[in-house]
Amino acid sequence: MRDVAIIGIGINKWGELWNKSLRDIYVEAALNAIDDAKIEKIDAMYVGSMAPGLFVGQEHLSSLLSDYLGHGPIPTTRVESACASGGLAIRQGFIDVASGMNDIVLVGGVEKMNDVDGATATDALASASDSEWEAFHGITFPGIYALMARAHMMRYGTTRTHLSQVAVKNHENGLLNPHAQFQMKLTVDQVSNSAKVADPLRLLDCSPVTDGAAAVIMCPLDMAKKISKNHAIVKLSGSGHATDSIALHSRADLTTLNSTILAAQQAYKMAKLGPKDINFAEVHDCFTISEIIISESLGFFEKGEGGRAVERGETSLSGKMPINPSGGLKSKGHPVGATGVAQVYEVVSQLRGDAGKRQLKNAKRALTQNMGGSGGSSLVHLWEVL
Ligand code: COA
Repeated sequence: MRDVAIIGIGINKWGELWNKSLRDIYVEAALNAIDDAKIEKIDAMYVGSMAPGLFVGQEHLSSLLSDYLGHGPIPTTRVESACASGGLAIRQGFIDVASGMNDIVLVGGVEKMNDVDGATATDALASASDSEWEAFHGITFPGIYALMARAHMMRYGTTRTHLSQVAVKNHENGLLNPHAQFQMKLTVDQVSNSAKVADPLRLLDCSPVTDGAAAVIMCPLDMAKKISKNHAIVKLSGSGHATDSIALHSRADLTTLNSTILAAQQAYKMAKLGPKDINFAEVHDCFTISEIIISESLGFFEKGEGGRAVERGETSLSGKMPINPSGGLKSKGHPVGATGVAQVYEVVSQLRGDAGKRQLKNAKRALTQNMGGSGGSSLVHLWEVL
């Protein structure tokens, strides 16, 4: 297997992008990545996108996007694993380059979610839950995560305030991110008293509905050392991918994300690293409770301690384990297929020392964790700057 590096990254401003189509926002992010890498051609492309058919009526996405990108009849593949589609596309690109099949691979992610009304978007998202046993009976993702939150609160003493503190922290970080959808400061009271969506989760506990795209360029590490003159080189050191039952009722424990635990074990083993070696992480905070459970599942904190770690400030930009310096899904936004790729955009920016006002002091090794549905799939990747 060849070592793999990232030589280009691109993104666009996320939000409600009424004057741009899905193909516009994808091409914008992909061209930014190609420009950043200073390359003339790409050999293959992977695109993470969860439900373009439901959101904008467009399937056969990979051919459409490579055509509009103008890079010729290269092999292109759309990758789908619900909200983990972007993370899975990263893994497919990694396998492609590591295997020697292709040298320069563009991995992008995109979702345009605001062209349909809120109820249709909620139904489209709910198609990533167990449609017979969950969605059919009316539960949507805020409801599913509310069950997980309630169980975590009852078992470990996690409080309403802990949930709010996750949102406050991520919005504070998002204020420093020019690409973020919601650049606004929040207080604990504002989050705790925002409109109830599914008790105990409130509006400001939820990631929003977002239009956006992100892209990265991968190549063999040896090639990156020769062609990448303007940036520090970031190596992809570990990759893990695991699945779990989609339906919550099939799981032994609502407060544990087994797919994330297993994916993290694989990634740590491949990179010969452990949680203590990681300086910061971008994780899938689709709801405030998910960031708390994920931080435990990745081994950053003991089981049940995730909420109290946020309270102690350990996950803030100046804490000992900064989580979601980009603002996370909560503030940056969550265009589902793009999220896993945008996490890589953020860690590469940080590892290069290019993250502007939200730059972390000690950014040498990073982790990205991207999750489908309520944890039916998880991807964990580890990154090191050379
Ligand atoms: N965070 C912060 N503000 C939000 C927000 C969010 N998540 N969602 C909406 N808002 C704001 C809007 O900008 C709007 O503000 P305005 O009145 O100043 O314009 C206001 O809240 C109402 O927005 P609206 O779009 O009408 O809200 P909604 O009730 O239709 O949707 C949610 C709110 C939380 C239900 C929706 O964002 C949602 O479903 N989020 C979860 C998405 C999801 O499940 N993703 C997959 C995860 S697995």
